Amino acid sequence: MKLLIPDFCVVVLIGATGAGKSTFAARHFLPTEVLSSDNFRAMLASDANEQSVTAEAFELLHQVLGGRLAARRLCVVDATNLKSQDRAHFVQIARRYHALPVALVLDTPEAVCIARTEARPDRSFGASVVRSHRRELLRTDPKRLKTEGFRRVFVLDSVGDLDAAVVEREPLWNDRRQARGPFDIVGDVHGCFAELRALLDKLGYVVSEPDGHYEVVHPAGRRLIFLGDLVDRGPQSDEVLRFVMDVVEHSGALNIIGNHEVKLGKVLDGRKVVLKHGLDRTVEQLERTSEAFRDRVRDYLRDLISHYVLDGGDLVVAHAGLKASMHGRDSAAVRSFCIYGETNGEVDELGLPIRGDWANRYQGRATVVYGHTPMLEAEWFNNTICVDTGCVFGGKLTALRYPERTLVQVDAQKVWFEPPRPLERRPRPDSDRLALDGLIGASLENH
Ligand code: CTP
Ligand code: MG
Repeated sequence: MKLLIPDFCVVVLIGATGAGKSTFAARHFLPTEVLSSDNFRAMLASDANEQSVTAEAFELLHQVLGGRLAARRLCVVDATNLKSQDRAHFVQIARRYHALPVALVLDTPEAVCIARTEARPDRSFGASVVRSHRRELLRTDPKRLKTEGFRRVFVLDSVGDLDAAVVEREPLWNDRRQARGPFDIVGDVHGCFAELRALLDKLGYVVSEPDGHYEVVHPAGRRLIFLGDLVDRGPQSDEVLRFVMDVVEHSGALNIIGNHEVKLGKVLDGRKVVLKHGLDRTVEQLERTSEAFRDRVRDYLRDLISHYVLDGGDLVVAHAGLKASMHGRDSAAVRSFCIYGETNGEVDELGLPIRGDWANRYQGRATVVYGHTPMLEAEWFNNTICVDTGCVFGGKLTALRYPERTLVQVDAQKVWFEPPRPLERRPRPDSDRLALDGLIGASLENH
């Protein structure tokens, strides 16, 4: 049996004493990855069996787990974990650090557990403990583990299965650290196909349409990245979709999901959605295409992921940006941040969401390139840049050349959609403003 797990996750072993948890952990994981309650008891009381320090041992285990997850390191929790309230701690800690919780049930037959436990010189207890553990384990339905929050559940119910099991780690889908670029990262297109074509010409791409699909080639081997919000408000969302889907499929381009794609995906899934913010135009445009095309769009949008970590970890792209503590991680909270930004559910006087200002506080190592919030200018703040310059509102379509960090822009052909408010420059971060105020104050005093 192959156990496929993400290379960043929390594996919670579940099984009676003698089930083979520690043996399994030692065989498949590094010693530093395995957090065993026995080891913490031994650290505290020089005796792995010393039950009086169990509470303190788990407190330490939780702390080390949090510390390792903060450092984005895989962890295996080696304890019996038979009670749902014990497991709940681990699910909660995994969630806090956006690590995927995985349950691995070692349902080793009772007789085997008893025979092994009795043969162990390092265990003072006997068959009755094993039996009570087994009773507890039988109450743990694998389906229930899913509802407890475990995203993957594996059950190994025979010694043969356990011995033959192979653990395979796969990188998270957002992990594209191997992709080194150079990249051209394009801001929110919103159906502005003519401007997109003009921008690609300016960037030096050769666009062709062999066999009825688009392809792009750059003489310098550059790669396109689309930051989401391809659709809505503009005149040709259908053609922008066709173009991006084709170049993702045929020319190695990358594309992450924006909030407008999420909404369109719901429409194509047949769910009830209010057709506003220009979605009505996209739906009209798609109605003029074929059903096969709409199906293709639906499947494509379903598979889009919400951020990529690129260039050895030096570059992160997400539609609405991403704070450092979420880079290269995956959870509902990470996806929501990527798609909608840091919102607290409040709206301003125009009904637009009030956005938190993660970029003003950003201190991460990676450059973060994002879109989502239309700005008059694309400007750097703390190694982050928003390249949505409101093309569909009559602004510009912008691409960031990476690693060069230069901007390439084309003007909108017209105002395709009236902006809810005029495009503005981004206010300087508070810290900058304070520093500036301080300087001005000092220079005034000096004169
Ligand atoms: N063992 C074995 N063959 C296996 C697995 C384990 O003989 N395939 C033996 C181990 O050497 C050990 C005993 O069975 O002496 C219990 O295995 P262990 O992995 O320590 O079980 P755990 O589930 O970790 O038990 P506990 O909860 O008591 O730590
Ligand atoms: Mg053990």
